[in-house]
Amino acid sequence: MPTSNAKPFKRTLVTTALPYANGPLHLGHLTGTYIPADIFVRYKRLRGEDIIHIGGSDEHGVPITIQADKEGVSPKDIVDRYHALHKAVLEKLCIDIDNFSRTSLPIHHQTTQEFFLDFERRGILTKKLERQFFDEAKQQFLPDRYVVGECPVCHYPEANGDQCENCGTYLSATELINPKSKLSGNAPILKETLHWYFPLGKYQDFLEDLISRHERDWRPNVVNYARTWLKQGLGDRAITRDLSWGVPVPLDSDEAKGKVIYVWFDAVLGYISSTKEWAEKQGQPEKWREYWQRSDTRLIHFIGKDNVVFHAIMFPAMLKAWNDGNPDAQYVIVDNVPASEFINIEGKKFSKSRGYAIYAHEFLEKFPADALRYILAANYPENRDSDFSWKDFQNRVNGELADTLGNFVKRAVDFANSKFDAAVPADCSLDDWNSVGIDWQKTFDELESAFEGFHIREAAFQAMEVARIANKFLTDAEPWKTYKSDRERSAKAIAISLNLCHSLAIIFSPILPDACDKIFKMLNVAERNWDNAKQPKLQAGHRLSGSSEALFKKIEDKDIAPELEKIERLVREFAEKEQAKAQAEAQNKTSIPDIKPTITIEDFEKLDLRVATVIAAEKVPRADKLLKLTLKLGDEERVILSGIAEHYAPEAMIGKNVIVVANLAPRKMRGIESQGMLLAVTGLDGKVYVVEPLGDGINGMPVK
Ligand code: 2FM
Ligand code: ZN
Repeated sequence: MPTSNAKPFKRTLVTTALPYANGPLHLGHLTGTYIPADIFVRYKRLRGEDIIHIGGSDEHGVPITIQADKEGVSPKDIVDRYHALHKAVLEKLCIDIDNFSRTSLPIHHQTTQEFFLDFERRGILTKKLERQFFDEAKQQFLPDRYVVGECPVCHYPEANGDQCENCGTYLSATELINPKSKLSGNAPILKETLHWYFPLGKYQDFLEDLISRHERDWRPNVVNYARTWLKQGLGDRAITRDLSWGVPVPLDSDEAKGKVIYVWFDAVLGYISSTKEWAEKQGQPEKWREYWQRSDTRLIHFIGKDNVVFHAIMFPAMLKAWNDGNPDAQYVIVDNVPASEFINIEGKKFSKSRGYAIYAHEFLEKFPADALRYILAANYPENRDSDFSWKDFQNRVNGELADTLGNFVKRAVDFANSKFDAAVPADCSLDDWNSVGIDWQKTFDELESAFEGFHIREAAFQAMEVARIANKFLTDAEPWKTYKSDRERSAKAIAISLNLCHSLAIIFSPILPDACDKIFKMLNVAERNWDNAKQPKLQAGHRLSGSSEALFKKIEDKDIAPELEKIERLVREFAEKEQAKAQAEAQNKTSIPDIKPTITIEDFEKLDLRVATVIAAEKVPRADKLLKLTLKLGDEERVILSGIAEHYAPEAMIGKNVIVVANLAPRKMRGIESQGMLLAVTGLDGKVYVVEPLGDGINGMPVK
């Protein structure tokens, strides 16, 4: 078995990145993880190897709570809904996954807490007080994606506090330019909070060694990305968050209250808990250890490129930290991380937030699973981003699946059924086999190295090459013509063709499981074994099932027209939105005004500027811009209306010290008398900032 570093592996554990259960699966999830993993696993199973495919949904973290906030439902409602949808879609897509678990299950909470407690007890974790973003209006810390702002790397304006969707860079919220709270839209403040940190830096040498050892068998993108992190030097990483949804920090102390374990710390452990759940379902609860705690297991993580750091750096370091203190329970460390690049749609970057996506469940309502599997395999983004286009989908399904593979199989089987009494009409010798025009040795070498090396696009291409040659062989042999003039020749051509159908059913079955099941059924063959594809196995007299069916239906223009229209509409709407935004920005642009004409000190002294404290604040009905503030100014209370409602939530104003023009003639607005004016400044960004004097005991005092 050719594997990295020629280690004598006895079994393989394949994991697929756990998608967040906060929205439907889209083509990116499928092409990056499930399709390549499933093709690899199915191929290995054909070779009789011991392999399991483990996954599940990622049900914690801010991505879930934000979706719940947005819909006004509980996080549990969200994860229940999307876990069920993920599971249904994977079944429909024929993903042969051994266990699709959930990180909200008790078995996962226990596993995560076990790691946390082990690290805590062994003194690996440190606690630190750090300043983090806090939403004053909502009185809530803002972990990760609760903060949005401009990406410091690519300047995408809506980067999340943990990662930029546009350039993929991992960020910490404090790096964002003009950060804003997703909860209130306000600029957050920094506030101290206590968190537990994992010392990633301690594992720098171990990780450098891991990456160096895999320099040649891991994809260059993975090695380079991991090296970039290593070069920067690894520091401590916070592994807890101020959130109520997640795996609770398993400590009794007051300082652990309201804290959960960081979603990425728990998500990677989801692979272990899912394997535990799988073992329990098998009635062998300890069986998970065979896959995780035996050094002859090969561990492979299928992920998208945006997850490299967690699988090539963070998770191996966590397992190493565990292994260092638990000699009797040593976890295997990853052997390969086939990380895919991204798939674009019609030449444009996928964007969930802009709705520019193709969702798997919608796709599968209209088109069969095999067609989707094939197009994603044929366009697998191995070393660079690839593209999905509806036209290409139509062309490949019609030209390659229907006209080449499907047409060949149907012609051969139908002819055998109708003219040769549904049986293989002649023997097929090795010489016959070699007369087809395929260099079998080379073909299988290439196919095997493609499947083994996760070169999914190449595997699809090589398999289709065999189908192309087979189809040509049958067309050129013309058994329908020779049937009358030279029946033996006709029988031979059909015997060879039926054997080619059999080989194709094996070669293609990792990619097209549904269609290949149909071929096996037509050929009346039960055994699935890779090596059987290398020679003619069906000899004279082998009975076929006698029936046949078309493997693929052609895709008509009318089938893809609504999809193309939808894409065009999304592109148009997005362009319109961008244009409107640019116009609004141009209109709102404030420039620094000229200095007003000089005044005398006497003029200035006429102004009575005082410090006041906001004690109540509310919105003014039917006045979007106005806040009604009740202020304590020395011994008196005043009401002032201020045009800051679009920039400050009422709650955010309470307790603030402000400066008011105390001797301004009162003025009625919206039926309310405003007894003064609040000092504020409009920034170049068009936002309004209230002037806030700092200091104690200054209420009521004049500002000079
Ligand atoms: O990026 C994501 O969708 C994450 N939910 C992937 C987690 S992978 C693993 F850690 F489980
Ligand atoms: Zn960016």
